[in-house]
Amino acid sequence: MAEEVLAAALLALLFPAGASSPGAAGCDVAPGDRFDCGPERLLSREGCEERGCCYAPAGPGPGPPWCFFPRGYRSYRAENLTATPTGYTARLRRVAPTFLPGDVGDLRLDLALETPTRLRFTLRDPARQRYEVPLATPRASGRAASPLYELRVNQEPFGLVVSRQRGGKVLLNTTVAPLFFADQFLQISTSLPSHLISGLGEHLTPLILDTAWTRVTLWNRDMAPVPQVNLYGSHPFYLVMEDDGSSHGVFLLNSNAMDVLLQPSPALTWRTTGGILDFYVFLGPDPKSVVRQYLDVVGFPFMPPYWGLGYHLCRWGYSSTDITRQVVDNMTAARFPLDVQWNDLDYADAKRDFTFNKKSFKDYPEMVQEFHRRGLRYIMIVDPGISSSGPPGTYKPYDEGLKRGVFIRNATGQPLIGKVWPGPTAFPDFTNPETHEWWYDMVKDFHDQVPFDGMWIDMNEPSNFVEGSQDGCPNNNLEQPPYVPGVFGGRLQAGTICASSQQYLSSHYNLHSLYGLTEAIATHDALLRVRGKRPFVISRSTFAGHGRYAGHWTGDVGSDWEQLYYSVPEVLLFNLFGVPLVGADICGFAGDTSEELCVRWTQLGAFYPFMRNHNDHGARPQEPFAFSPAAQAAMRNALRLRYSLLPFLYTLFHRAHSAGETVARPLFLEFPKDPNTWAVDRQLLWGGGLLVTPVLEAGKTKVSGYFPAGTWYSLAGVGAPPRHTDSTIHSKGQWILLPAPLDTINVHIHAGHILPLQEPAFSTAESRRKGMALVVALTPDGFARGELFWDDGESWETFEKGDYTEILFLATQVGKEGGFWGVGGGWVLAAVTVLGVTSPPRQVLANGALVGDFSYRSDTQVSACPPPWVGSGRGSWWLGRDPGLS
Ligand code: NOJ
Repeated sequence: MAEEVLAAALLALLFPAGASSPGAAGCDVAPGDRFDCGPERLLSREGCEERGCCYAPAGPGPGPPWCFFPRGYRSYRAENLTATPTGYTARLRRVAPTFLPGDVGDLRLDLALETPTRLRFTLRDPARQRYEVPLATPRASGRAASPLYELRVNQEPFGLVVSRQRGGKVLLNTTVAPLFFADQFLQISTSLPSHLISGLGEHLTPLILDTAWTRVTLWNRDMAPVPQVNLYGSHPFYLVMEDDGSSHGVFLLNSNAMDVLLQPSPALTWRTTGGILDFYVFLGPDPKSVVRQYLDVVGFPFMPPYWGLGYHLCRWGYSSTDITRQVVDNMTAARFPLDVQWNDLDYADAKRDFTFNKKSFKDYPEMVQEFHRRGLRYIMIVDPGISSSGPPGTYKPYDEGLKRGVFIRNATGQPLIGKVWPGPTAFPDFTNPETHEWWYDMVKDFHDQVPFDGMWIDMNEPSNFVEGSQDGCPNNNLEQPPYVPGVFGGRLQAGTICASSQQYLSSHYNLHSLYGLTEAIATHDALLRVRGKRPFVISRSTFAGHGRYAGHWTGDVGSDWEQLYYSVPEVLLFNLFGVPLVGADICGFAGDTSEELCVRWTQLGAFYPFMRNHNDHGARPQEPFAFSPAAQAAMRNALRLRYSLLPFLYTLFHRAHSAGETVARPLFLEFPKDPNTWAVDRQLLWGGGLLVTPVLEAGKTKVSGYFPAGTWYSLAGVGAPPRHTDSTIHSKGQWILLPAPLDTINVHIHAGHILPLQEPAFSTAESRRKGMALVVALTPDGFARGELFWDDGESWETFEKGDYTEILFLATQVGKEGGFWGVGGGWVLAAVTVLGVTSPPRQVLANGALVGDFSYRSDTQVSACPPPWVGSGRGSWWLGRDPGLS
């Protein structure tokens, strides 16, 4: 009953009588507020005015459109708004002619108040089923009570206005420009409440996007990362920081080629070439909640095996088993940790998947078995292109694939043939369930020969060295749509297969950007079936929801300082996208690295959630052992630091998997009320407690970092004698210039956190058997908390099955003048260090018994048990400095 009253009130409110169109007048629109009336081609004054639009030529380069919509430009009118069990529905009717072919004049709007913080609205053609992204999203059973949002539907011109229930701030207002819904051109614009917008990957971009007339194109593409170009993945999700530190997010569930345009008003236009308009709005109200609400829709990240968080080493050009073994031996001899050795295309016979070279890799299976005996894991590359040129009966993946109908088809119904590393190739259609079975069979056959531990899936945009196919592409409206987004190469087929090729679920035109995701799902599932353990898959191409199945590396980054910097926002953005297992190729992939760059990159890379050094064919060697003793010592320290911190990192992954959190996160996620944090993208946090301030420029021995208000303890001072870099920071919320000699990366723990650590070793297989330790970073009033998630590190769904231990650590001040802290949890600890102890402890108790072996320094206010800086004994290992070498 109450709901009916609400619905009636809403209807009355939203449909004010007498709305009228001002027609083509109203050209006095401020330049920053102008929306493009000629998106698909350049218009003359006459052409522009024929559309009923306003013409005002401006200078060259990015800027306001020359032809723009006048205020009140007519497109759709909303009618028959009625209540439904989950929200409202209405009909939209086009009330004025459009300039686009295939216009849909009659639309259905569905508004679902799914949860108090999540609103979904869709626009569909009620007369015809159109392509929709095959992502299983949560279904709302009823209409959310007391939502954080308020909703208005403007009748004509049609538009939606979403505002915050409290304070009334408008988050979304689609009345700012006309709606378009044609067969291959769908466009909707909205105002933004601030310029601080992040997301819309994958691009080489700062964390905060530029709203000064930026076009962001989404269409997965094999492309060495450069700014302003569509790259390997598509994540049509943005997060906005509002002026008061609140945050909201918007997700357009659409996989077609699209442009997202940002303009200074500030405003945003989604312009996509197919599918439907299917939006989610997340109300936060804080940015962490926005991310979790987004992940509620696309899925929480998978839990990686523990070994996957160790150090990975790869290059293109390890051309034999002997050379690959030598690399591992060199790592051991130089005392570097290594968990996973990789091979690129070199292992394969004529670069064909699921084969190996019977000469240079003749003892390939034995090599992998040996690695296993040494406690290492092994991963090799697999590309989706299946070699199609051999005589029948010579290559099982193709023969079987043909028989089972798993390949993407061209216009004549035959497998589309492109060209990748092995020459002519067919492309498996991973939207076909039969393809998953075939893929599993291929993975299993190969695994029966070579017991690999994870898979590296590359070239899955999918990349194609000929445009479209070996026979070109047909001439049709999917290949040449009326509007082509700003894709690199200017055509949809550039660097990939024909848009009109046919897949099981739909055309490639619709499914293209899902190729990597669907391959990742098939690979994840195949690995789980074959190995029976937690799968480890790293993929170049991604789409929204990818993090449920796989991680990502950021592709062919150049070995230069600019790319080193960009890797920080890339890693942060992928965490916002729900793909926390992400990293760039350490020391850079393309071109020669330098010793200094490689040291700095290894230091930063120690804080990528996924840490792999990978190098291009022919580039200068960049394994850690390839450098001078001093550089090696610096890299060794960075690696030991990472290995010390792995229990903490693993626990963060557990939080991501079980609660939709991020692992590496931007400062604004933890400190949203501090405006200074909003654009920081040269630092990153691990969880809430560890702040990493890397050097990202050549020749620098100092680095400036932002420290939100509070106490920040340097991690470098914890496990070794205090040095010049180790002073504790008491920040008022300020930029601080830190010493950063080449052997140092600045890492600080925020007061109030307890980090679980473990003694580092040369692999996680070894380190997991070592002693655990805690660093307790006290607030001035003597409080800290932390947690540890621990399981066997690789069994499937340990959390879901309850096969794990979770310990909460609390440090509190017991009694006013007591000055001692209780660290609870029932875990056997090898060492505890407490930071911020203002006076010498009188006694230390463990399980009620006195512990004599502790230390206290009044200059650093560090109390440790056992004392960490005595000799090279037990206490000195766990913060990474190599006692022997540094
Ligand atoms: C492209 C990948 O991005 C790169 O990492 C790899 O080394 C080459 N393909 C060769 O497989």
